[in-house]
Amino acid sequence: MSELLRAQELTKVFRSNTALNALNLTVNSSEIVCLLGANGAGKTTTINLFLGFLEPTSGSALVGGVEVSEDLQGARSNLGYVPEQVSLYPSLTGLENLDYFVRLSSNKQPDETYLRDLLKQVGLEQGAVDKKVDGYSKGMRQKVGLAIALAKGAKALLLDEPLSGLDPKAANEFCQLLRNLANDGTAVLMATHDLFRAKEIADRIGIMKAGVLVEELRPETLDQAALEQIYLRHMHDDAPVEEAH
Ligand SMILES: Nc1ncnc2c1ncn2[C@@H]1O[C@H](COP(=O)(O)OP(=O)(O)O)[C@@H](O)[C@H]1O
Ligand SMILES: [Mg+2]
Repeated sequence: MSELLRAQELTKVFRSNTALNALNLTVNSSEIVCLLGANGAGKTTTINLFLGFLEPTSGSALVGGVEVSEDLQGARSNLGYVPEQVSLYPSLTGLENLDYFVRLSSNKQPDETYLRDLLKQVGLEQGAVDKKVDGYSKGMRQKVGLAIALAKGAKALLLDEPLSGLDPKAANEFCQLLRNLANDGTAVLMATHDLFRAKEIADRIGIMKAGVLVEELRPETLDQAALEQIYLRHMHDDAPVEEAH
C-alpha cells in the first residue's frame, strides 16, 4: 500500500489567523479519508495546500513523495481535483466539456471512444452524454468533473464538499464511484459535512476544528450515532474526548 498524500506539520497562517495548525495526515493508495469539521476548520486550506494553490507557512505537503512547494508540476501530475462547484460550459454537451478540459490540460486530442468510456465509468446516464450541460443536475455535473479529474490518470483525488446539494441517490452513486476508484488503487481525500456518507465510505475520518486535526477515527469501529456524538462533542467542547469511545 503506497502512500500518495502526506501532510507533515503542515501549517498555514493568514495574517494572525492559523487556518491550519501542524497537520499530520497520510492517505494511501486504495484509501478514502474524509475530513469533517465546521466551516472555517481548515478543510479547504488543506486541499489547497496539496494542490499548490497556497504556499505553506511551515511544514510540507507531499504528493507521491514529491513536495508540492518544490515541484508543483510533478506533484500535480498525480492529482485530480473536484471542487464543490464544477465549472462547465453550459452550451456544450457533457462529452464536449470533457473533451475541452482534457485537451486544455494535456495538449492532446483525446480519442472520442476513450472519453465516452470515461463518462460511462463515472455513471453519467447514456442519454445525457450528448446533451447540453445546461440541463444537467448538480450530480451530473459532479460526474463530469470527476471524469475530467480521472482523464489525466490521477493517482490521488482531492474533493472539496462534492456531495453538498446532491440528493441521496446521487450522493450514494457518487460515493459508490469513489469506492470503486479506491478499490482500483486511487487515494481519495474528501472534505464533507455528510457524516452519514463519511461513515459509509471512509476508511478513516479526520475531525478538524479551528485548523487542528482533533481526532482520527476508523468508522468501522463506530455506529452512526456514536460518530455523530463524537463529532458534536468536538464542536462543543474544548476538551479532548478520548474517554468517549
Ligand atoms: N485566502 C484566505 N485568506 C485569508 N483567510 C483565509 C483564506 N482562506 C481561508 N481563510 C481562513 O482560514 C480558515 C480556514 O478556512 P477553510 O480552510 O476554508 O475552512 P473549511 O474549508 O473547513 O470551511 C478560516 O478562518 C478562513 O477564514
Ligand atoms: Mg471549505
